[in-house]
This record gives sequence, structure tokens and C-alpha cells, in this order.
Amino acid sequence: MTAQDSSIVAVRICRQTTTLPFQSLAVDGCTPVNEQTGLAFERHDSPVETSSVRERASAVAAPALSVSGLCKTYDSGHIALKDINLEISKGEIFALLGPNGAGKTTLISVICGIVNASSGTVTAAGFDVVKDYRSARSIIGLVPQEITRDAFETVWGTISFSRGLFGKPPNDVYLEQVLRDLSLWEKRNSQMITLSGGMKRRVLIAKALSHEPDILFLDEPTAGVDVELRRDMWNLVRSLRDRGVTIILTTHYIEEAEEMADRIGVIHRGELVLVEEKQELMRKLGSKQLTLQLAEPLSVIPESLTQHSLELAADGHELVYSYDGQSDQTGIDALLTDLTAAGIRFRDLRTRQSSLEDIFVSLVQDRS
Ligand SMILES: Nc1ncnc2c1ncn2[C@@H]1O[C@H](COP(=O)(O)OP(=O)(O)OP(=O)(O)O)[C@@H](O)[C@H]1O
Ligand SMILES: [Mg+2]
Repeated sequence: MTAQDSSIVAVRICRQTTTLPFQSLAVDGCTPVNEQTGLAFERHDSPVETSSVRERASAVAAPALSVSGLCKTYDSGHIALKDINLEISKGEIFALLGPNGAGKTTLISVICGIVNASSGTVTAAGFDVVKDYRSARSIIGLVPQEITRDAFETVWGTISFSRGLFGKPPNDVYLEQVLRDLSLWEKRNSQMITLSGGMKRRVLIAKALSHEPDILFLDEPTAGVDVELRRDMWNLVRSLRDRGVTIILTTHYIEEAEEMADRIGVIHRGELVLVEEKQELMRKLGSKQLTLQLAEPLSVIPESLTQHSLELAADGHELVYSYDGQSDQTGIDALLTDLTAAGIRFRDLRTRQSSLEDIFVSLVQDRS
């Protein structure tokens, strides 16, 4: 029996008071239950309840997503991904930032099995996305960057078809709720071609949610959508996360990453150049700089000032002091006293606080 066979086998709906993780072991003989709907996950083509306990246990223990040594060179010879290593925990919101052409969509496409990796492995909930393709794919939802081409299909037809593709039985109540959550219910009988760009984007999300995925990829979900829809999407993503769904989103909007993410990754020219907890980044962003424009330029920082966190800038015309802007003890008093004692005069001063955008820009520029 393979890990694929062991996954998501529906036997019957099992109502339990305890919430089970999406592939938890059926300790009392019950099947795993989807926390969103209370329904058992299912696979029509699987034998019933014959899976190996050990295989299931390893799937439970596995991170939601594990990417190891992933490289992708397109047939054109373009190296789009270089040795990507990344683990994402269940229930995490991970934001992937990077300039155009950095490799974000390629990475998502490899994980979702749309593009073949040149080397490396990806597992989703312990299932290899190549060897256990069906199991892995059945727990993944993808909201692609490109707008759908189902021009003449209705909204309802599109999402019901998508659910069926994953072998899910019809569940009109669930699909209605998805459409209502996305303010699409009124448009359920409209053909895709008649929808606005923002509405089409919502349908892409509805499609991705139609089969109740445990891991959701959103490739620039809010590109070109209005402020209201962006807020709606953020709320939707948060509510999905609260229900245990793992979310990986790419965005060009730094404030989106700041607002949403538990962790932030920056990809540049196919390399993952930063992966950091957002809180930790925010702590770092708490650092402020006080820049003093000196009356006379300095060639070196005097010995008596070396205890302060100082750097020379603008060819010695500026002295930059970094400090913790969130602390009561900024050290500015002591610095000014020591500057006076050292006979250093300044003409002007300014303070600034770095932002995630600064970090992003400097990471990307440093490597250009
Ligand atoms: N099918 C393909 N064949 C050859 N090169 C490709 C293919 N798809 C993407 N690329 C190249 O791989 C690189 C990464 O593209 P990718 O679409 O992953 O970037 P991205 O980070 O998603 O960019 P964007 O922010 O513009 O969406 C780009 O240089 C792109 O031209
Ligand atoms: Mg892209």
C-alpha cells in the first residue's frame, strides 16, 4: 500500500467533538473529518479503510509543505529556481515576495504539479507531489495568476465542475457558501465572459476552494482588484487559516504581506534570499536611524564614540546612529553629550524608520 492509497479515504461521516487535523489518524475507526464542513474527506477510487497506520502517522507528522533542493531550468535554458529549501507548517500564512520574473509562479507551479522540477523534491502533507501526485493534488487548491478561460460556462458550472474534477461528490450547500463568502451568489448563473476582472478573480478563488483544499496557493490574488475586494480577500484568507487551511500567497503589495503573513519569504532570480517570521521582521523594522549632517566631515569615527552604534555616510558628511525606536532607552541623550564632548558639531538632523519595503528593495538591489 502506498502513501497515496492511505490518504483521504472516505468511509462514512464521523461527527466528533474533538477537531481532527486534516489527515489525522482515525483512532476510533472514524475517518478524517474536514474541519470546515464536518464532512469526511473522500476518494472514490480508493479501497475503504485499508491504509497503513504507519503511513498515515507519517503524513500527520509531516509539515504542510516541504520543499527540498528544488531547481528548475526551463527548456529555453533559463534557470528559474535555484536550490529552494522551505518548510511550511499547517495553518501558516506564508507570503512570497519577489520582483517580476523572480520565480514565484514557477515555484507554485512545481509544487502544484503543473511544471516539472529539474531536481529536488516537494511533499504536501507528506505526499510527494510527483510520486503521490493524486494524493498531493487532492489537498491542494490553486488560485492561478492568470484569469480563467472558461468564457461561456456559468459561475456555478465552473465551480461544480472543478469540485467534480477532484472526485468530490456534489455538495451544493458548501458551494453556495463559498459563492456567498465571495459575494458571487448573485452571479451564479452568469457566464464567465460577462464578469468584471475582479469578479473573475473571485471565481478563481471559488474554484480553488471548491474541493475543500487543506493547502491553498494564491498567486497574486489581489493584483488589479479594488480596495474593497482586497479587504474581503484578506478576511477570507484569515477565516480559512482559522479553520486550519495552510496558505501560501504571492504578492507585489508589501502591505499585504505585512497585514496577512505569519512568515515572509523573498525570492530573487530564482533564489530564496530571505525567510523570516513577520514578527521578527517587524522587530527589526522597529530599528530607527538618526542621521546627523555634520558641520565638518569626518574621515573616521572618533574612539570616544565607538560605544554608540554609528556609521559614517555621504563621504563622512553624515553620521548615522541606529537605535531601537520601540525602547524607552534610545541612547540619543548620551550620544549628543558624547558628540559635544568630542567637539563634533552638526548642522541638521533627521530620523527615519525602515520598512519591510526597504528590506525588500535592499535585498533585491544588493543582488542585482
Ligand atoms: N514556460 C517557460 N519557459 C521558459 N521560461 C519561463 C517559462 N515560464 C517562466 N519562465 C521564466 O522564468 C522566470 C520566472 O518566471 P515566473 O513566472 O516564475 O516569475 P514570477 O516571480 O511569478 O513573476 P511575476 O511577478 O511577473 O508573476 C522568468 O524569467 C520567466 O521568463
Ligand atoms: Mg508570477
